[in-house]
Amino acid sequence: MKKILVTRKLLKENDERIKNLFDVKLNEKDQLYSSEEILELSKDCDGILAFTTTPFNKDMIMNLPDSVKIISNYAVGYGNIDVEAAQKRGIVVTNTPEVLTDATADISILLLLGASRRAYEGRKAAEKENWLWSSDYLIGKQMTGKKLGILGMGRIGRAVAKRARAFDMEIHYHNRNQLSSDLEEGAIYHKDINDLFRNSEFLSINCPGSKDTENLLNEETIKNFPDRVVIANAARGEVIDDDAMIKAMKSGKVFALGLDVYRGEPKINKKYLDLDNLFLLPHLGSATKKTRIAMGDRAIDNLDALLNQNQVPKDKVN
Ligand code: DGY
Repeated sequence: MKKILVTRKLLKENDERIKNLFDVKLNEKDQLYSSEEILELSKDCDGILAFTTTPFNKDMIMNLPDSVKIISNYAVGYGNIDVEAAQKRGIVVTNTPEVLTDATADISILLLLGASRRAYEGRKAAEKENWLWSSDYLIGKQMTGKKLGILGMGRIGRAVAKRARAFDMEIHYHNRNQLSSDLEEGAIYHKDINDLFRNSEFLSINCPGSKDTENLLNEETIKNFPDRVVIANAARGEVIDDDAMIKAMKSGKVFALGLDVYRGEPKINKKYLDLDNLFLLPHLGSATKKTRIAMGDRAIDNLDALLNQNQVPKDKVN
């Protein structure tokens, strides 16, 4: 049997399956292994089931034992892995697309609603029992009929668009390439990201994290939004320049922000914590049981394809 290192704890449904297919080193205590520990533990392994909480940078990849043929990432994003270095070492990298699309799109809508309807301030007031209903109490921004910009119109972006249409929103998007009209479903394409921002009363960030998308929202680009824009990020923290965002939230340029992801998470830029117009979640995009089991299954399928079936895994990214 081929040997696999699983770097974090899987749900028990996935554990059972992977144990039937492989000789596995599970991480029962869900420890956050250091790079040294992973290198040590992977010594006799054919593959690694990895998580976004573990960076596989160039150094790490170069030091992996020759026996490792695949890193199967338990996530759709794979910014934690230096894919080029893996390619050079002949290591296949895979991800888990499709299965987390709906759960993540739901969270994007939750972020937009939580931010625009002032859920954080509402929760605090309700707990303190010191509020009095009045016609102008905690007035938020309503999504109905507004223009929604979607930054990154892949599967998740399109699932956000589908949900937003139920709010009668007008969908605008920016993507590396324009989609075919059947995938656009009436959404308006902006080749120039600043054109998208000019047309976004609400913005949902759903692009992958990479060098190309780092700081796409920065001091200069944020100026293009209509005043009092609401922004939600369920993609990767690095897409936003936090200092520029905090400044815009203080000035009122940005009415409110919803975040599920952070630069250097679980850390957060502490200056955010002085602001009330912020709705926060701790990276819950894919956090439903159904989705997490499906992600595990998909990651196991990819290991099984390469190591047991000698086939190219469905979700190979390099
Ligand atoms: C992903 O799959 O990239 C998500 O961020 C994990 O929840």
